Amino acid sequence: MKRKKVSVIGAGNVGATTALYLAEDNLCDVVLVDILEGMPQGKALDIAEAGPIRGYKGSFTGSNDYSAIAGSDLIVVTAGLARKPGMTREDLLNKNAEIVSGVTREIVKHAPGSMILVVSNPLDLMTYLTWKVSGFPSERVFGQAGVLDSIRFRTFIAMELGVSVSDVQGLVLGGHGDSMVPLPRFTTVSGVPVTELIPPDKLAALMQRTRDGGAEIVKLLKTGSAYYAPAASTVQMVDAVLNDHKRVIAASVYVNGPYGLKDMYIGLPVILGARGVEKIVELPLNAEESSGLMKSAGIYKETLAELKVNA
Ligand code: APR
Repeated sequence: MKRKKVSVIGAGNVGATTALYLAEDNLCDVVLVDILEGMPQGKALDIAEAGPIRGYKGSFTGSNDYSAIAGSDLIVVTAGLARKPGMTREDLLNKNAEIVSGVTREIVKHAPGSMILVVSNPLDLMTYLTWKVSGFPSERVFGQAGVLDSIRFRTFIAMELGVSVSDVQGLVLGGHGDSMVPLPRFTTVSGVPVTELIPPDKLAALMQRTRDGGAEIVKLLKTGSAYYAPAASTVQMVDAVLNDHKRVIAASVYVNGPYGLKDMYIGLPVILGARGVEKIVELPLNAEESSGLMKSAGIYKETLAELKVNA
């Protein structure tokens, strides 16, 4: 059987770690693309050379030229800038919008049949932009955020209870930012709702830690943002698509109707499989959960209006 091909745009921390995890899971051949000369080539060669010991095979190549992505089944977009001192949020938004639009045009040119998984921040806005610029059907353009937010929530719950993280299932919806909505009612330890196991004040603290999860890592690292957990989340989504797993996970997806949300990308539970976003799963949210989601959606709608979409 022909091996699948995944291209990762941006060979920085998240991109290179994603490539490594894809290799370690023997999921596909990988192409790394970056604007820095030699860097994606060097990292891809290094990953290939680890194969004899780590036990993976396949083709791992790097390039500064987008023609290398031709024939990709899926493209992961991690290209972008981190916020620098003196840059406003709006500056960052417009700078990353420029980068992500440029990357998307190259994807359309060289890999028009691919799916696009966006990881660059601000996530929900960059995913919307990618969809607009690509002109691809929305089920083929989605963003990685909900899996990451959910695994952070799961990790904190497992730490609090002293149980295996594999027995904790959790769901976090909404935008990938301060307004995200962890859903304790839909979070369980081997089927037992976490609301039965952790007192409300403690649970509220874990939910807040989840919202601040990205910032907690940035504060510790000082020179960058998280990449191991973001890359692991990305690879779980790639696996779901390449192997048609039909995973029920949270992802940034295009919504126009469900949950009362109109024309936007935001984190919702979906079925992810070979056709991309195969279905948005509609949960019976209570008033508090629903208002949290609407509030988060309102914030993203406002910022979307600031974004200059030059499709
Ligand atoms: N085309 C290709 N690569 C680009 C482009 C471009 N137009 N512009 C920038 N890059 C590359 C940079 O050269 C760099 O190698 O994107 C890479 C980004 O890597 P890092 O700076 O290490 O950032 P990283 O931590 O990987 O985060 C990437 O993912 O999680 C998000 O918030 C994060 O938006 C950020 C993105």
